Amino acid sequence: MIQIRPACPDEIPAIAVQERQVWSRMAATQEELAWRQALLPDAFLVAEVGGGIVGVANAIRWSERRRGGVEQVHADPRGLHVAHDPWGEVLYVISLGVLPRYRGRGIGRRLIEAEIDVARRLGVEKVQLIGHTRSQPLYERIGFRAVRAVPEFTQEYSEISGAMLMEYLLH
Ligand SMILES: CC(C)(COP(=O)(O)OP(=O)(O)OC[C@H]1O[C@@H](n2cnc3c(N)ncnc32)[C@H](O)[C@@H]1OP(=O)(O)O)[C@@H](O)C(=O)NCCC(=O)NCCS
Repeated sequence: MIQIRPACPDEIPAIAVQERQVWSRMAATQEELAWRQALLPDAFLVAEVGGGIVGVANAIRWSERRRGGVEQVHADPRGLHVAHDPWGEVLYVISLGVLPRYRGRGIGRRLIEAEIDVARRLGVEKVQLIGHTRSQPLYERIGFRAVRAVPEFTQEYSEISGAMLMEYLLH
């Protein structure tokens, strides 16, 4: 059985190990993950199967209206958590990852749907994320629409092809 729930702070070290397994060179540090969990714990979600964490999704709030596109979230060398705006009208899903042997069972979908539920509870206007060629169909099936290509992102992370800003409107 798959359980989706907020992470506990003491799980961050194990989550950081998983982050490296999924993202290798692009992985967030343990410190960065701890910041994200502390700033918006309701949106720092794990998927648990048989008592083990097999998937993670995390997000911050962002104000596109005041500060521009979410590319700006990635601009601060101190880390992405620095961009968190407690009054932002966007829930920006920074990262979604499922361990390779657990993929294709709907866990990624469940994590994103749970982020949409969090966004509803927070009362934000939309959920945004940056998809890529492989993951875009998954987001479209959930109800996200492609907004625009994000070529800067593809240049910075050569592992990601076809980076695309996607959004899900809540009202
Ligand atoms: C994206 C990811 C979280 C999906 O998790 P999942 O539990 O397999 O997701 P689901 O079972 O709900 O949906 C499967 C869909 O994910 C997409 N997908 C499959 N493999 C993928 C991969 N290696 N990377 C990205 N997306 C992938 C496909 O659209 C797939 O649908 P299909 O089986 O019809 O082709 C997982 O593949 C992953 O961790 N990939 C590496 C990290 C990543 O790319 N994250 C997304 C960043 S935008």
